[in-house]
Amino acid sequence: LSDSLNIGIAGLGTVGVGVVKLLTEQQALLRDKCGRPLNIAAVSARSRNKDRGVDLGAYRWHDDPLALADDPGVDLVVELIGGEDGVAKALVERALAAGKDVVTANKALLAHHGTALAEIAEGNDVSLNYEAAVAGGIPIVKALREGLAGNPISRVYGILNGTCNYILTTMRETGRDFGDVLAEAQRLGYAEADPAFDIDGVDAAHKLAILTSLAFGCPVDFGHVHVEGVRDVSALDIEYAEELGYRIKLLAMASHTEHGIEQRVHPCMVDADTPIAHVDGVFNAVVAEGAYVGQTVFEGQGAGAGPTASAVVADLIDVACGRRAAPFGVSVTRFKRPDPAAMAAHQGAYYLRFMVQDRPGVLAELAGVLRDEEVSIESLLQRSRSADDPVPVVMITHETREDCMIRAVRAIGGLDAVLGQPTLIRIEHL
Ligand SMILES: NC(=O)c1ccc[n+]([C@@H]2O[C@H](COP(=O)([O-])OP(=O)(O)OC[C@H]3O[C@@H](n4cnc5c(N)ncnc54)[C@H](OP(=O)(O)O)[C@@H]3O)[C@@H](O)[C@H]2O)c1
Repeated sequence: LSDSLNIGIAGLGTVGVGVVKLLTEQQALLRDKCGRPLNIAAVSARSRNKDRGVDLGAYRWHDDPLALADDPGVDLVVELIGGEDGVAKALVERALAAGKDVVTANKALLAHHGTALAEIAEGNDVSLNYEAAVAGGIPIVKALREGLAGNPISRVYGILNGTCNYILTTMRETGRDFGDVLAEAQRLGYAEADPAFDIDGVDAAHKLAILTSLAFGCPVDFGHVHVEGVRDVSALDIEYAEELGYRIKLLAMASHTEHGIEQRVHPCMVDADTPIAHVDGVFNAVVAEGAYVGQTVFEGQGAGAGPTASAVVADLIDVACGRRAAPFGVSVTRFKRPDPAAMAAHQGAYYLRFMVQDRPGVLAELAGVLRDEEVSIESLLQRSRSADDPVPVVMITHETREDCMIRAVRAIGGLDAVLGQPTLIRIEHL
């Protein structure tokens, strides 16, 4: 291993430039760790003339990123373009097929095509490493794939989207509404101009699908992730959560249930004294529970040039040192094929809020609907009284099946005395 590892980097945006900087600034450290230099041989992006704040003069430039896969002077391709299809997918497939190792940060690509790409990598005896794709700088891929490999994993969950966590944290701290805080997050660069992927939960779902495969040794199954985002979380519900001893977080969770593998991303109320309730701002956290190790908690920065470059370079070091694991820990040839669990069969407790006209008999009507669906109430809050304005009625249920709960909430929403859309937030006792 005395020769340098020759690297081709496709994509020179936030992550790409972060990787170039780390590799150039830490050359000596990396040479010591790997016993050979990590050498940037070639790069590619859309526009050659853009000033990226780094000197790219010493590297071969390819207008077409696919040329990196064909470049005989490139041993390993780093894909930092992004997108589930298109040029990123074509490049990764071509590089793996050409016998080159691949490192990527692309969660969308892996969520949609992870199993097929792992198959190509394994078939060609090369690495497909993607530490930066899940929770940025947190080494959770390595933790599940290697550090916790001796454990059957029962559950993995976390806060996987910094934008949503920043918005929910700021809403709680300031009492402001979602739209207002989102606009501020966009001004500060914590949310994209088009924030849909983040705030609708899709980005967290991409990462969860990858974690599920790593945790349970099964194909990446993005299609069966139940996804809800944070657009409908209101300042009022955050206030009630606080009062009830909870915090609202966008959690991504995968677990083994009696119905199969359950994968879900949605706002949750979590007990205010759990570690995950205190992961605030743009930070991410992942909790993995193993049969022998018990609970492990990982926290750190989930995005940004530094944390993602840290993860990408760790993947490069593994290749340079000749360490290779199957992309998802277990070879695709030995994947289990568990059933996906339907969300309708989910069991849990729920927070419900209805805006009702304050007149006699309304609570009895609500109670009647809940009784018909066999939903039992643990506690009820109805504080303010007003002759004219609707008042909030807040309920916490005992453990209930999701389909019963949804039917009851729909029926209650249809009552004359109930105004607007009822709010339902699942409660997780972690
Ligand atoms: N940003 C983060 O904090 C973060 C964290 C974890 C994972 N990721 C993942 O890392 C990847 C890159 O993200 P990023 O934030 O660095 O994106 P970005 O800043 O938008 O950079 C994308 C780069 O890809 C290049 N590119 C786009 N289309 C191309 C094409 N058709 N051919 C050649 N080059 C093309 C762009 O070239 P030009 O510069 O010339 O336009 C740009 O340099 C994505 O998969 C993302 O999900 C990002």
